[in-house]
Amino acid sequence: MTAAVDNKPAGPSPSGPAQPPVPPGATMVTLKIYRFNPENPDAAGWQSYQVPALPTDRFLNLLLYVKGYLDGTLTFRRSCAHGVCGSDAMRINGVNRLACKMLMKDFLREGKDVTITVEPIRGLPVEKDLVVDMEPFFDAYRAVKPYLITSGNEPTRERIQSATDRHRFDDTTKCILCACCTTSCPVYWMDGSYFGPAAIVNAHRFIFDSRDEGAQERLDILNEAEGVWRCRTTFNCTDACPRGIQVTKAIQEVKRALLFSR
Ligand code: SF4
Ligand code: SF4
Ligand code: FES
Repeated sequence: MTAAVDNKPAGPSPSGPAQPPVPPGATMVTLKIYRFNPENPDAAGWQSYQVPALPTDRFLNLLLYVKGYLDGTLTFRRSCAHGVCGSDAMRINGVNRLACKMLMKDFLREGKDVTITVEPIRGLPVEKDLVVDMEPFFDAYRAVKPYLITSGNEPTRERIQSATDRHRFDDTTKCILCACCTTSCPVYWMDGSYFGPAAIVNAHRFIFDSRDEGAQERLDILNEAEGVWRCRTTFNCTDACPRGIQVTKAIQEVKRALLFSR
């Protein structure tokens, strides 16, 4: 699939409704999208689209424009459009990002042509275009038991925790399971059996929770061959996290918990 689409911004598009007029102040941006259709895998490849972009747009707006006006077959996930649901992770200009959190003002340069590449995140099977099969990612998440484990003794009121104890795992509560970290990890690319940073972040969230009694169980799981010792501390995951979680630090804390007492 190599054809570049010759868009006429204010005219009718061959496969969608007439495009709206280009808004004043918009810059035409070339979007290069890696397309894959499981019904015609041999045709996989880059396809280019011309899309008007305002500095106030988010990158997701451009994908929605392509789907709405230029090519309804383009397939990608999105839901909240506000960086909360974690569904629109993709590789934008070679780095993992959420499409809805990328601001077009950071791409546009006055008088300069702008080309932006977008591909699916790596390390998970591609289903179509920018949509990957997230099941292997969620299998690893489920494997670390990401829920409160207690031995009974239901309290009659909420389980009390000090502010200091709560702070211990505050950073890792922010995960939205977008997979930006895990699919930026070279170890995960090489061998998908590694649990990956997101699963470890979510194990960390409970291992260091003073109300939880399943820490040793999770540490035993992460001590296995596909666990934390596979991490090479390259920080790709931390750089990729749209929530600013100190992912590599959390992994180091789990390693330390395995070596020493918590
Ligand atoms: S720090 Fe570890 S988990 Fe994160 S990207 Fe590097 S190897 Fe992967
Ligand atoms: S740790 Fe960050 S990058 Fe990884 S899944 Fe959670 S929110 Fe996404
Ligand atoms: S669409 Fe929900 S995080 Fe981007």
